[in-house]
Amino acid sequence: MVAEAEVEVVLDAQSVTVSETREISLHQLRRLHDTTTWARGRTQAQLLALLRHSDIFLTAWDGDTLVGCVRVLTDFVVRALVCDVIVDPAYQGLGLGRLLVEAVEAHPALRDVEQIALFTTRKRDFYAHLGWDDHPGHGMVYSRQSSVASRQISEG
Ligand SMILES: CC(C)(COP(=O)(O)OP(=O)(O)OC[C@H]1O[C@@H](n2cnc3c(N)ncnc32)[C@H](O)[C@@H]1OP(=O)(O)O)[C@@H](O)C(=O)NCCC(=O)NCCS
Repeated sequence: MVAEAEVEVVLDAQSVTVSETREISLHQLRRLHDTTTWARGRTQAQLLALLRHSDIFLTAWDGDTLVGCVRVLTDFVVRALVCDVIVDPAYQGLGLGRLLVEAVEAHPALRDVEQIALFTTRKRDFYAHLGWDDHPGHGMVYSRQSSVASRQISEG
């Protein structure tokens, strides 16, 4: 299941592996996405496209069980956008969210990127706790009519 670059970490006596593998069961990816408000209901085709076209896709594993993910869209020089930071509810509060976000911050492919950004509505305090700054009044978005797309923009 896990391959390529990976690192094993022990969180609160729970051993978790963070991997860059793209060999991910769409069923497991869907189960994880379905735990959120904004990514719930994404189809297998959509998830496959995210897996194929995201520039960075990190996943966290407890054995063969997918327990967390984060992905990044970037030009590798100027900007990077972090999307879909998700930790399985049963694994929240163990440090896994921090681990995934810090893995993005430290990712070698993003070393030269000037600014890393993300959208969030309800988790501002989480990112602030990790050292991220509010950037109010600087962003603009164009949302498609569908409410699902709007939710993705505002929260994911
Ligand atoms: C938000 C989320 C990714 C956090 O992951 P997590 O594994 O539960 O968080 P961690 O255990 O890594 O917490 C890391 C630190 O942030 C703090 N923290 C966690 N959630 C917090 C919150 N909502 N507000 C403030 N601080 C928070 C923790 O206390 C911890 O502090 P410490 O390292 O100093 O002890 C996770 O709760 C989640 O997946 N939620 C549902 C999906 C979601 O909302 N994702 C964010 C989309 S923008």
